[in-house]
This record gives sequence, C-alpha cells and structure tokens, in this order.
Amino acid sequence: MQPQLLFMPQVGHPYQRPAEPPHTAGTAERELPEYDLLGARPVDAQRLFWYRWIAGHQISFVLWRAMGDILWRHPDDPPGDRELDALATCIDGYSAMLLYSATVPRAHYHAHTRARMALQHPSFSGAWAPDYRPVRRIFRGRFPWQGGRSCEALDEAIARNGVTHDHIANHLVPDGRSLLQQSAGAPGVSVSREKEDLYDNFFLTVRRPVGHTELVAQLDTRVAEVATDLAHNGLYPDVDGRHHPVVTWQSAGVMEPLLTGVLRVLDRATRLMAHLRLEEVRS
Ligand code: HEM
Repeated sequence: MQPQLLFMPQVGHPYQRPAEPPHTAGTAERELPEYDLLGARPVDAQRLFWYRWIAGHQISFVLWRAMGDILWRHPDDPPGDRELDALATCIDGYSAMLLYSATVPRAHYHAHTRARMALQHPSFSGAWAPDYRPVRRIFRGRFPWQGGRSCEALDEAIARNGVTHDHIANHLVPDGRSLLQQSAGAPGVSVSREKEDLYDNFFLTVRRPVGHTELVAQLDTRVAEVATDLAHNGLYPDVDGRHHPVVTWQSAGVMEPLLTGVLRVLDRATRLMAHLRLEEVRS
C-alpha cells in the first residue's frame, strides 16, 4: 500500500476551466467486497498504518470539498433533498475515515504517526485542515436552515461524527490532549497560510488547478484501494498476532453503521458527488 499525492484546488477557487464536458467518472455501480472486522493475515504495520493515516485524511479532504461545493450554493436557503442526502453521506464518509485512520494500534500511533506529526510542527492539528474551513459551520449547526425536519438525517450524521471524533481521540490519546493543546498554541488562534501548507504537505496534498472529473477520479482510486485493503486485512488487522479494535460491537452505539459500512458509504458519497456535478453541468 503506497500513499499517492492528492491534487486539490485551492480552497475557494473554482474547478479548472474550460468547463469539462459532462463526465461519468465515479458514477458507475461497483462490486463492493465483503470484509472482516478482525483480519486473519499478519500485516506490515509501518506500511499499512501509514497508508491508512494518509489515505483516510485525503479522502476526508475530498469529501469536505464536495460538501463545501454544496454549502457555497446555500448560504441562506436550504439545499434540496438530494444535496442534503449528499451532505449527510459525505459526513458519514468522513466519520468512516476517522475510524479507518484510527485503526492504528495506540502504541504504534504514539511511536510513529503522532511523532511524525509533532516533528512536522509541535502544535500540528486537524484545526489547520484547509478544506475543513468552509465546512466547519455545518458541524456547529450554524447554517440558518439547519435543524428543520428535512435535516434529520443530516443532524444524525453530524452527531455521529462528533461521537466518532471524540471516541477515536480518547482511544488513541487517552489523556485527551491534542498536540495543539500540549504545545504553546491554543485552539481558536487563527490559522496561518504557513500552517495550512505544513498540514497539506504532511498529507501529501498539492494545491493546483484541478477539474471536477480529476477530483472524483482521485477519490474513486482511493476508495478502490481502501476496498482492497479491507478485503485483505480486515478493519482491524492482525498485528503480531493481536487485533486492536477501536470501536467494538459492544461500544459502537450510534457508530455501529460505520463498522461494516465503510465501503458502502464511501462508494455512495463518490457517486452522489459525481451525479450532482453531472446535473449541474447539464442544467
Ligand atoms: C483520524 C484523524 C483525525 C482527523 C481527521 C481529525 C480532524 C480534526 C479536525 C478537522 C479538527 C478541527 C475541528 C474544528 O475546528 O471544529 C480537529 C480538532 C481537534 N482534534 Fe482531531 N482529528 C483526528 C484525530 C484526532 C486525535 C487522535 C485526537 C487526540 C487528541 C484529536 C483531538 C482533537 C482536538 C483536541 C481538536 C481541537 C483542536 C486542537 O486542540 O487541536 N483528533 N480534528
């Protein structure tokens, strides 16, 4: 498993012009493999969990961008049913990627993943993620149209996301303090361009003009890779004869659909993203 560079448009910039012809990348039905929760084959932990950490984040960046595209069109008036469905599905996809990235065993996370992030910057934080900036408001329920009956599924997805982030954070860092909180920096301090670049750079993300087709294709490739990984290694891989479950059936609660549904939700989010764009280009 080898992480790839992700090419993303600058936040707030439109997709690359000239306008693309209607495309169908990412719209096709695909066969989704079954996967076990507990993997049966021993894995190369360094390689696998590095891949999962990077790919899980990159997929989240694309899903945030897809959400941002919808939210940009609906600052005041509510999105339609299909757009609300796409928003909820992207949020569930992001939650699934929190879970997927966090399948790294805790000791490995501290020795390798977190150590590398702290070397990139001592206060390295998810709060620096450029593509999260335009969607932060929806996670806080700040759009005027949020809270109505048509937003029930969206509200559930947002709540599930909060529970999942808290759960994986407590699981990996039981003392609960992020690198940002441990360092001199404090949450809420505005994020500089330099920090956003450091964040992008860590997650192998390059900003350049990108067309929508190319963005969907990059998501599609990663979803196929995650499918291969899960089918081969299970959600919780065998690391030196042991498994390291993050969320178990017993502790799942509202996260239960994410356990077995990682591929279903990613696949659905990819197709909704592609279809909505297709409709937009054709209208
Ligand atoms: C799977 C990887 C993770 C992703 C994608 C992620 C994503 C994010 C994002 C987007 C934010 C900004 C939220 C906002 O501004 O409203 C954030 C903040 C935060 N995250 Fe995570 N997170 C991850 C893992 C963790 C872990 C393992 C911890 C454990 C300490 C953690 C603790 C925090 C804390 C405390 C904040 C508040 C700001 C800060 O202190 O850095 N997160 N995270």
